[in-house]
Amino acid sequence: MGKNIIIIGTQWGDEGKGKIIDLLSPNVNYIVRYQGGHNAGHTLVVNNKKTVLHLLPSGLLHNHIFGVIGNGVVISPRDLLNEIRMLQKQGIYNLQNRIMISESSPLLLEYHVAMDQAREKRLHSVDDNNSNGNTTIIGTTGRGIGPVYEDKVARRGLRIGDLKNIQLFSVNLRKNVNYYNFLLSNYYHSKVVNYDVIIKDILSVRDDLLNMIQDIPNTLDIAMKNDKKIMFEGAQGTFLDIDHGTYPYVTSSNSISGGVCSGVGVGPLAIDYILGVTKCYTTRVGFGPFPTELFDEIDLHFFNIGKELGSSTGRRRRTGWLDIVALRRCIQINSLSALCMTKLDVLDGLKEIKICIAYKLSNGTQITCTPFSVDEWNNLSPVYKILPGWLGSTVGVRSFNLLPLEAKNYILEIESMVGIPIDMISTGPERNDIIILNNPCL
Ligand code: GDP
Ligand code: IMO
Ligand code: MG
Repeated sequence: MGKNIIIIGTQWGDEGKGKIIDLLSPNVNYIVRYQGGHNAGHTLVVNNKKTVLHLLPSGLLHNHIFGVIGNGVVISPRDLLNEIRMLQKQGIYNLQNRIMISESSPLLLEYHVAMDQAREKRLHSVDDNNSNGNTTIIGTTGRGIGPVYEDKVARRGLRIGDLKNIQLFSVNLRKNVNYYNFLLSNYYHSKVVNYDVIIKDILSVRDDLLNMIQDIPNTLDIAMKNDKKIMFEGAQGTFLDIDHGTYPYVTSSNSISGGVCSGVGVGPLAIDYILGVTKCYTTRVGFGPFPTELFDEIDLHFFNIGKELGSSTGRRRRTGWLDIVALRRCIQINSLSALCMTKLDVLDGLKEIKICIAYKLSNGTQITCTPFSVDEWNNLSPVYKILPGWLGSTVGVRSFNLLPLEAKNYILEIESMVGIPIDMISTGPERNDIIILNNPCL
């Protein structure tokens, strides 16, 4: 049997998942997205050429890969088709026969975007007036992701497969447009959407979408029986998970490894190995707790050297030191087999490197588990272990033995703190800037 693996982010997203999925692709057959939508931004750099994927699985630059979008992923038809066109323009081979989507995937439509943006805008203005300390500005990507998942759980959502019966689809779409327009105009005092525009738009892409639908559980079951290898691609990160993240400052799906089963339709026994991709420091986009956040010259170092601008929205990422307390929780709830540490090169030249090993509460007590309420998350301060930095360059290094001694010790120290192996170390944005100590796909 093939070995099926999950790749997830262990922090607040943007750990470098896309790069790792792309580089491991030669030894797998299917790459499967299971949650999120085009809020994700996964960057691949091959021969200096950068490609950012949002909805499409990160292995599609390889000609043999089948890219699957599972039922847990919310699909904006326009954004999906634009992304496919972008890759076709790059000359990527035979895409139309290599992309499969679940007919149960929720459709993300214009009213979801309008609602996401109206809500964040209203919260901004309410917050500005200081009239309600209880409001929550999330700092979403503004792409409509949350409202689509709300529709799904409320059982009023439209799915790709609903396009098969256009009469029924039109009736349900009209109901949803009326519902959203009522909210948009009466509650949010915001611009409404137009049913005619939405239906015309969706009809113009209906065939393209229906041509890509497949019975995904069946396809993957047959693939597994034929000894094909499947890699499940996480979007966002563990602490953006709707249940296990820093709620409410999270995304609206289960980004943890457990999300694979419900988001695709495979059972837990199909999974053989789970890799957690971890940046050697931490970043976060949008609002929410961040115990190790920095506001000093080290933040500027991470921002400038790590080029920490969001791949989806271009927002500046907040930065901080690596957080082992959070990482241990992540290993626990995801059953991680191993870690892949990324962006080691960004630490080059730092005099000292801090690792958060515990949190201190306001009463002075130290804890070594992440809390559950946002209030507690917000009232923690990090306790650091300080390691020496290194002067040499690690950029593009491909062998562990060629790393500076202090860099080797840094990696070994993390390994001993978390109790699982570090199987890979990324040393630059390029596909081949990688140290592979154990290739999970072989
Ligand atoms: P993802 O969302 O987890 O796929 O990560 P993003 O693509 O949003 O952000 C990761 C950024 O770091 C991208 O710009 C990558 O090109 C870059 N990157 C990935 N690995 C490395 C690395 O080891 N070193 C450096 N310097 N950049 C990296
Ligand atoms: P990748 O897959 C980093 C963040 C947003 C916001 C919160 C909720 O590239 O790692 P949403 O639009 O999902 O409702 O926003 O989640 N967020 C991400 N941050 N990387 C991502 O994806 C993200 N996707 C969503 O910034 O704080
Ligand atoms: Mg990203």
